[in-house]
Amino acid sequence: MQYTGIIGNPLGHSLSPIFQQAAFDHLGLDIKYELFPTDAQELESRVESLRALDCLGVNVTIPYKTNVIPFLDNLDETAQLIGAVNTIVNKKGKLIGYNTDGLGFIRSLSLETQISLDKTNILIVGAGGSARAVLVALLKENPSAIVVANRSIDRANELVEAVLDINETNIQAVKLSVIEKHLLERDFDLIVNCTPLGMKGGLHEDDLPNILDYVNTETIVYDLVYNPRVTPLMSNAKKSSEFVFNGLEMLIQQGAASFQIWTGNEAPVPIMRKAIQETLYNRQGT
Ligand SMILES: NC(=O)c1ccc[n+]([C@@H]2O[C@H](COP(=O)([O-])OP(=O)(O)OC[C@H]3O[C@@H](n4cnc5c(N)ncnc54)[C@H](OP(=O)(O)O)[C@@H]3O)[C@@H](O)[C@H]2O)c1
Repeated sequence: MQYTGIIGNPLGHSLSPIFQQAAFDHLGLDIKYELFPTDAQELESRVESLRALDCLGVNVTIPYKTNVIPFLDNLDETAQLIGAVNTIVNKKGKLIGYNTDGLGFIRSLSLETQISLDKTNILIVGAGGSARAVLVALLKENPSAIVVANRSIDRANELVEAVLDINETNIQAVKLSVIEKHLLERDFDLIVNCTPLGMKGGLHEDDLPNILDYVNTETIVYDLVYNPRVTPLMSNAKKSSEFVFNGLEMLIQQGAASFQIWTGNEAPVPIMRKAIQETLYNRQGT
């Protein structure tokens, strides 16, 4: 038997074991997906242990997506651009870091909306790890302009600075709390929430980012939060637009990409989707 799993802290709410194990079992692969809750001082030895022959690699989640990098032998180009790793692969004792969040986001967006991102106007809300992955992935799709709105303007500025050289896209940082008059005329094609606002069980589960004024009838609103199924941002945005989505498909697609990197097999996405939907939404009836 081989194993994979997830490193993070805390891991109690992780859904990855459910849909990854369902995928391994469905294909008859003798692989076990394990939880590796890890303290900061254990991180280096935990990563070192992944070089074992029977380890395929692992997923990495909060708070270690950046902290694991010094312990790896190499990063793929996307993980390097994002500066964070969500998937580690053990290639004969060498540990390579990947980031599948951006790919998962783009695949999910194209499955759910069929949007062509070429020449679009996009608003990204947040400037943390997921915003960085989403921004780098979106830049490759040749949009006209991207605005990054964040609570801390310094962090938004840092993120914009870090990606300026990727291509010619016009990227601007703004403060989230302020409604910018010039942006009201922008007609955003896509708005992506990359903050935890509205997340069930979080400190701000009834809240939503201050961006509803930017939503029009054609705007696609994509909330990376997927629990609850309809987030506060989604229910409010639905008053203006019918193109409103949660982040569950992104979660599935980033996991499917990790699965493929570890096993070389195409992931059985419908099996993964069914496993996660049954666990997450049937359990809570939302
Ligand atoms: N669907 C998926 O597959 C997927 C993948 C990754 C993440 N996510 C979800 O995306 C969310 C963000 O994750 P992350 O990894 O990017 O987190 P992160 O790195 O901690 O970044 C959090 C971001 O949210 C902002 N923020 C936090 N609390 C806020 C508040 N009360 N008001 C306004 N802004 C606030 C932060 O602003 P400051 O910079 O001002 O602190 C920062 O920009 C989480 O809910 C996570 O579960 C979903």
